[in-house]
Amino acid sequence: MSAQDRTRWDAVYTDRDAVPTPALPAVFHDHEDLFPHTGAALEIACGSGAAAVWLARRGLDVQGVDVSTVAIDRARALAEQAGVTARFEAVDLDDGLPPGDPVDLLLCHKFRDARLDGQIIERLAPGGLLAICVLSEVGAAPGRFRATSGELRTAFSTLDEAAAGEGDGEAWLLARRR
Ligand SMILES: C[S@@+](CC[C@H](N)C(=O)[O-])C[C@H]1O[C@@H](n2cnc3c(N)ncnc32)[C@H](O)[C@@H]1O
Repeated sequence: MSAQDRTRWDAVYTDRDAVPTPALPAVFHDHEDLFPHTGAALEIACGSGAAAVWLARRGLDVQGVDVSTVAIDRARALAEQAGVTARFEAVDLDDGLPPGDPVDLLLCHKFRDARLDGQIIERLAPGGLLAICVLSEVGAAPGRFRATSGELRTAFSTLDEAAAGEGDGEAWLLARRR
């Protein structure tokens, strides 16, 4: 990521006044029961921490990473406000996933970098759940950051699919490592 991109994301979060409410992303609401209550979770591109703090409240040991230091500061403040412990770190995913032990849940919501697919699979513990939602070309005009039709299923075909969907410009997948 260029310094310019980082600056752009910092500006996005600086301009956002509203403090987010801890929440599971809406796209996963119908499948909340698949999300673990214990164990380790990693959220990549966590933004200002709404999902990560929700996971910490649920009982998971959460690490959230994002390139924007403004977002990370907000995520830390949100965790403190919610009275939960979660680790938030500024990480540029262009350099790959941060090192760490296998996780029981890896969450990625509205961020796509296909170069990370192999590392994402490798980071999951046996039985660990991948929850990923990205922008899609299906139901929207093609764009640089949009997944092509079937892209997530193909990228994570070595995982056991639990649920998936594609349409209205969004694609998502819930899948477990064997
Ligand atoms: C559309 S936002 C989604 C944020 C959050 N997951 C959510 O759903 O609200 C995309 C996020 O990706 C982060 N991001 C973009 N490029 C990144 C990179 N190279 N490394 C880490 N985070 C990055 C941005 O800072 C931003 O928080």
